[in-house]
Amino acid sequence: MSRWKTLIAAAALLSAGGCGGKKSPAGEVQATSGPDKRADKVWFDSCQSCHGAKGLGNGAAARNLNPKPRSLDDPAWQKRTTDDQIRRVITKGGAAVGLSPSMPATPTLIVDKPALKALVTKIRNFAK
Ligand code: HEC
Repeated sequence: MSRWKTLIAAAALLSAGGCGGKKSPAGEVQATSGPDKRADKVWFDSCQSCHGAKGLGNGAAARNLNPKPRSLDDPAWQKRTTDDQIRRVITKGGAAVGLSPSMPATPTLIVDKPALKALVTKIRNFAK
């Protein structure tokens, strides 16, 4: 009989919708953390090693790079670059836009547009 109890418990869990939220087919992760959080995570995991926590170009891995990543808080660069250029270098990498191939591509952000947008905003905010 304990087999039935297990089945009933499982059915109850399923009908309660697991963790409470609505199920979105591809959006489990998105449901638990917003685009800003995902952008912060991408920056922490995949960018700051070179660019530094605040985008100053002083990450530990930048020491041996030539050219080094610029300081992203530079007002002159902030003024002349466009959001589109920033998005392109992030998703396609430096080589694709005539910059150093040391700047890696992060193609996963092509399909997570909200996180990409939040990452561009984060980079824009380095200037403030
Ligand atoms: C392995 C080191 C490295 C990592 C990791 C890295 N970058 Fe870069 N990045 C560079 C270098 C080097 C340049 C400068 C290329 C040049 O000036 O030719 C650069 C350039 C850039 C630029 C363009 C600046 C300009 O001159 O127009 C942006 C924006 C940028 N990176 C954002 C990011 C983001 C966001 C991430 C994480 C998703 C990231 N980078 C990860 C090394 C890195």
